Amino acid sequence: MATNDLTIVILAAGKGTRLKSDVAKVLHRAGGHPLVEHVVRACQPLAKNILVVVGHQAEDVRKAVAPLGASTVLQRPQNGTGHAMLIARAAIDTNARLAIVLPGDAPLIRTETLQALLDAHRAGRAAATILTARLDNPAGYGRIVRKPDGSVAAIVEEKSAGPAEREIREVNSSIYCFSLEKLWPCLAELRPDNAHRELYLTDTVAMLNQKGERVLAVESADARETFGCNTRAELAEIDRAFRARKAAALMDAGVTIYLPETVLIDPDVEIAHDTVIEPAVQLLGATRIGSRCTIQTGSILANATLADNVLVRQHSVITSSLLASGAIVGPFAHLREGSDLRSGARVGNFVEVKKSLLGEGVKAMHLTYLGDATIGRDTNIGAGTITCNYDGVKKNPTRIGERVFVGSDSALVAPITVGDGAYIAAGSTVTEDIPADALAIARGRQVNKPGWAAARRAKSSESKSTAAKTSAPRRDSAKKLAERPRRKSSAPTKKSRRR
Ligand code: UD1
Ligand code: MG
Repeated sequence: MATNDLTIVILAAGKGTRLKSDVAKVLHRAGGHPLVEHVVRACQPLAKNILVVVGHQAEDVRKAVAPLGASTVLQRPQNGTGHAMLIARAAIDTNARLAIVLPGDAPLIRTETLQALLDAHRAGRAAATILTARLDNPAGYGRIVRKPDGSVAAIVEEKSAGPAEREIREVNSSIYCFSLEKLWPCLAELRPDNAHRELYLTDTVAMLNQKGERVLAVESADARETFGCNTRAELAEIDRAFRARKAAALMDAGVTIYLPETVLIDPDVEIAHDTVIEPAVQLLGATRIGSRCTIQTGSILANATLADNVLVRQHSVITSSLLASGAIVGPFAHLREGSDLRSGARVGNFVEVKKSLLGEGVKAMHLTYLGDATIGRDTNIGAGTITCNYDGVKKNPTRIGERVFVGSDSALVAPITVGDGAYIAAGSTVTEDIPADALAIARGRQVNKPGWAAARRAKSSESKSTAAKTSAPRRDSAKKLAERPRRKSSAPTKKSRRR
């Protein structure tokens, strides 16, 4: 439950040098969102006030978090994590008594873990509570120095740690809960007496101890939740972790996923039980999939909505489209934005659909483009049908009624209307509206010329034999020509000889 006495401060002003990027670290994407968005989302259920400290690429980071309801404060220059909190102070609601402070690049953190940190902080009546992790390789992290009673004496940064401290495997995740009235005096006393000449937030832990305050630590159950993202390899690891987490949640909810390590499912995707996801599928954005659907290998769905019992065959690409129950698409179908397939509609291989409604039971099975079209129920669209929707200036609509039969290789030049029950002869280029139940034939009339082909074959074999007779002397003369002494001009080329 979001409370008013709690504020969240996300530290996101740093550059992220090791990513070797022009893009701010927290804007790199993993698990379907920019890193900082995951952090903001994890915090949202806990507090209304979320403040992001921005610095590098400040405007881009602000644009990424503003739609999530987070506010920002600018830290420039960036003189360390302690300095970031000093800057944040001016922007923090005066009613706030507690702050959860966390880095913008630790996107795997979950709301439940932050809630547990907060609960431990409140229950322990501490001035600060630190989320820690136990790592096999703690190199690079600040170490947690515990007192015999289990509370925390200090955080020692790697660079200032002695050999014994370096042996400590419990590390600072940079995720904390602070009682603000206890924190503020310590921040004022911070000094940049460290390797980076920065103000370290971590130094406040020893200061609080000196003032007789309690600092507690909560060890996270899953160390991965505290992982930061400093390199491209870590970015890939974090992405993998998000994908695994999402796939596991879906499988728990009754979705079958084969080779889950090969599928890529964004966090907001919803899938009902008994749907089957085959290997190497991508489900992106706000895709919603009903029950008993099958999404076959290699298909990519972005912001698609599928009712129950939809079959998406191999290697289909579906964007911002609606598929009603019993629809079947693919293999190799391309449903672009605004495709609306009603119940039982079928779209086959190498068919592209854009901003078009295909009524119940409509079939467009092969090699077709349907753009800006409305097609009534049970109409059959023959192979190679093209709606010519673009006249070079604007897009025009095609309206096809119910139970229409569109013969193969028809071009429908929009705007055009085809009445219910009409037939279009194969190979027609339709430029005029067709009344209901009419047959439209719009193609050159066929002319058969009896014997023409046989006569042509006879003529061509005759000319071949004449050529064979005359070709030998011609080659001789070419040889003679080549043997002649060279003139001023160069010898004839192969090309000129052939002429
Ligand atoms: C910090 C901790 C270390 C901890 C580690 C966990 C300090 C001094 N050390 O080290 O104990 O184990 O995180 O990952 O805090 N930031 C700002 N403004 C600044 C500097 C940093 O907003 O002036 C932000 C960064 O964007 C980042 C976070 O603060 O999100 C942490 O800073 P970073 O430089 O990554 O600290 P570490 O060296 O990782
Ligand atoms: Mg870091």
